[in-house]
Amino acid sequence: MKLQTHIAQALLTVIILLQFINPSLQLSDSSPPTPAPWPEQFHALLYMNLSSTKLQISNLWYDWPRGRNVNLIQKQLSILLYDVEWNNGTSFYYTLSEPRTCEVMQFEVGIPKPDFLDGANYLGTAVTDGYLCNVWEKVDFIWYYEDVYTKRPVRWDFYDGISTHVITFEVGAVLDDSITQAPAYCFNQEKDI
Ligand SMILES: *[C@@H]1O[C@H](CO)[C@@H](O)[C@H](O)[C@H]1NC(C)=O
Ligand SMILES: *[C@@H]1O[C@H](CO)[C@@H](O)[C@H](O)[C@H]1NC(C)=O
Repeated sequence: MKLQTHIAQALLTVIILLQFINPSLQLSDSSPPTPAPWPEQFHALLYMNLSSTKLQISNLWYDWPRGRNVNLIQKQLSILLYDVEWNNGTSFYYTLSEPRTCEVMQFEVGIPKPDFLDGANYLGTAVTDGYLCNVWEKVDFIWYYEDVYTKRPVRWDFYDGISTHVITFEVGAVLDDSITQAPAYCFNQEKDI
């Protein structure tokens, strides 16, 4: 064997040994990991523990191309609440069963952009819900846990104590448009129905 080959092999052995001694040693760039952007369309089944000790199951249908973010909210022993948020800042909150209610709200900002976590501070890794995750924090508002290996979101916590756990995550799933049509009693109503 050529001398260069021997040297190369010796170097490789040293590098492998070093990594064995300290697994965090990386040969590639050592900048902190960044969260994967949200897929442009997905459905997630979410288990939420509201800080008020109440529990909630939510079906989240995020759809950036359609400019809408839908939460179908089932609070424990309550009726299904539709939360349809549009990118123009309008949100409709309504129930379709009795008591039928609707509230229309106008926000300054639209739905989160797929890259809404850009610029979050990396906090390191932690095991949550049994998954090894990278953890970030953004503007003391959200703490975000992403599976180290699959890059899927596992959990996020809001500043107000609401903790959301991702049960299913279906990339590319799209909600039928008919589900997001607000009922007639959302329109032409006096305020405060
Ligand atoms: C929900 O969160 C509260 C506060 O962190 C905790 O005490 C409680 O055990 C949690 N409940 C469930 C069902 O996980
Ligand atoms: C925003 O878009 C929704 C859905 O198309 C519509 O119902 C609502 O009126 C719009 N809001 C504004 C302020 O244009």
